[in-house]
Amino acid sequence: MKTVKDYIRTIVDFPHEGILFRDVTTLFADPRGMRMAIDQMLHPYAGQPIDKVVGLEARGFIIGGAIAHQLGTGFVPVRKKGKLPGETLSQAYTLEYGEAVVEMHTDAIQPGERVLLVDDLLATGGTAGAGIKLLERVGADIIGCAFIVDLPELGGRKVLEDMGMDVHVLCE
Ligand code: PRP
Ligand code: HPA
Repeated sequence: MKTVKDYIRTIVDFPHEGILFRDVTTLFADPRGMRMAIDQMLHPYAGQPIDKVVGLEARGFIIGGAIAHQLGTGFVPVRKKGKLPGETLSQAYTLEYGEAVVEMHTDAIQPGERVLLVDDLLATGGTAGAGIKLLERVGADIIGCAFIVDLPELGGRKVLEDMGMDVHVLCE
């Protein structure tokens, strides 16, 4: 039987020479792969109440929307700067060269709401770390952070665990 990892394609030299890019579009395109990823991402949280699923732009929207539908919860996007129309909170984070900013609507989550943060891939943990800071600023109760892929050599898991997060990944 195929595993989640078997549905993920590797593209050599994208976006730069020397990079092995883990491409989850092949998993998303397969109904069994998509179903397996959703079920496994939710497995540790079975039976726990979840109020909202929060997804990180852009691939976190695809898996996060599907997970929210499966749970019957709402979905909240964390977007790159300048995309959300309402009042937002902004959070900067460090990239290899420079800085990036993510944003969330100020009124998207109420204090004490139980949220699950999801994305396709954890690398340095910069993006998810910024999402966690936004959620903490609105008083969310983050029950976990779930990813399809972790790139362990980039250290993101430790970054999130050092922030006190429960981190769940399907493959490395
Ligand atoms: C990728 C990936 C994560 C992030 C992980 O997104 O989908 O969101 O990078 O990297 P990090 O752990 O080092 O922050 P990307 O920024 O390429 O955006 P996209 O999904 O909009 O293409
Ligand atoms: N795949 C998808 N997104 C990424 C990767 C990757 O290998 N590395 C950093 N972001």
